[in-house]
Amino acid sequence: TFTPRVFSGIQPSGGLTLGNYLGAIKRFVTMQDEVAQSIYCMVDLHAITVWQDPKDLLHNTRELAAGFIASGISPEKSILINQSQVPEHAQLGWIFNCVARMGWMQRMTQFKDKAGKNAQNVSLGLFGYPALMAADILVYHATHVPVGEDQKQHLELTRDIAAKFNHDYGVDFFPMTEPVIEGAATRVMSLRDGCKKMSKSDPSDASRINMTDDADVISKKIRKAKTDPDGLPSDIDGLEGRPEARNLVNIFAALSERSVEDVLSEVGGQQFGTFKPLLADLAVAKLSPISGEMARLMDDPAEIDRILARGASQAREITAPILKKTYEIVGM
Ligand code: ADP
Ligand code: NA
Repeated sequence: TFTPRVFSGIQPSGGLTLGNYLGAIKRFVTMQDEVAQSIYCMVDLHAITVWQDPKDLLHNTRELAAGFIASGISPEKSILINQSQVPEHAQLGWIFNCVARMGWMQRMTQFKDKAGKNAQNVSLGLFGYPALMAADILVYHATHVPVGEDQKQHLELTRDIAAKFNHDYGVDFFPMTEPVIEGAATRVMSLRDGCKKMSKSDPSDASRINMTDDADVISKKIRKAKTDPDGLPSDIDGLEGRPEARNLVNIFAALSERSVEDVLSEVGGQQFGTFKPLLADLAVAKLSPISGEMARLMDDPAEIDRILARGASQAREITAPILKKTYEIVGM
C-alpha cells in the first residue's frame, strides 16, 4: 500500500489559460488540504518538446509559478518545483522509455493531434512525452493526479508502464496512480470553436482567456465568443449538440462552484446578450485578484527562484531514494 500523494504539472509553454485554471489548478488548491503531501510542477522538459525561445521559457516558468501561488497553492503546504531542477524525473524517464512500447505511444491521441501531418519532422521528445510524464508521477510514487480530461489517456499509459515494470521485474514497486478528473469544466473549449480544446498553444488569442488578460479583454473575448441563435435552455438536454453554449454554461458553473443544472435553473430562458455580460463579470471577479497577485509576485523573480530551489531540494528527498531503488531493481 502506498501513502496518498498528489502530483501534477503544467507546461511553461505560454501563459496560463482559463482551461488550465478550471481543469487543473483549482483542484490542485483543494487537494493540498486533502492529502498529506502534494507536489506541483512546472514541466519545462515537456515544454521543449516543441521549440521554446530560451528567454521566454525562463519567463514563462516563473510566471507559471507565480500563477500557481496567486491561485492559492501555498509553498508551505505543497512542494513547488521546476522539473529540470529535479534530475530524477529525466533519469526515471529513460528507464520508462525502455519499458513503454512503440505501439502504446503510437496510440496517443495528443501526439497525433500535435504532430498532425508533420509526424516525421517533430521531435523525438514529443513522441516520448507520455513516458516522461509517467516518470514525473511515479518518481514520487504519486497515487493521485488532478488533471483535465485531455490527460486521461496519458494517465492510462502511466498505469500500463507501472504495471509492465512491476511485472517484468517481479516487484510491486510502482503504484497504480488514479487520475482525478472532476468538476463542471474538465474540458474547457475554445471560445471560437466549440469542438477544439482551449489551449495556450492555440495561435488565436481570441480562442482563450489568459489568466493575465485584463477586465476589458476578458469581457470582449466573452462578448465575441461563438454561440448559436438559440437562447439558454432550462435543462441540460437543451444543450445537446450545442458545444459552444454548453461550454459557456460549464465555465459559468465552474467559476461559481455550482452545478450546471443549478446554473440553468437560474439563467434558462435568457438570450446570450444577457448571459454573456453576467459570465464576463463573474470571470473578471474571479480572475482579476489572481492576475493582480501574479503581477505582484513577478516584481520579485528572485523570490520565485528561491521558492523553486527550496522545492527542488524537498522533492529530491523523495525522488532520490525512489530512483536509487529503481536502479537496484533493474540491476544497476
Ligand atoms: P495546454 O494544453 O494549455 O498547453 P498543458 O498541456 O500544460 O496545457 O496542461 C496542463 C493541465 O491543464 C493539464 O491537467 C490539462 O489537462 C489541463 N488543461 C489544459 N487545457 C485544458 C482545458 N481546455 N480544459 C480543462 N483542462 C485543461
Ligand atoms: Na495538454
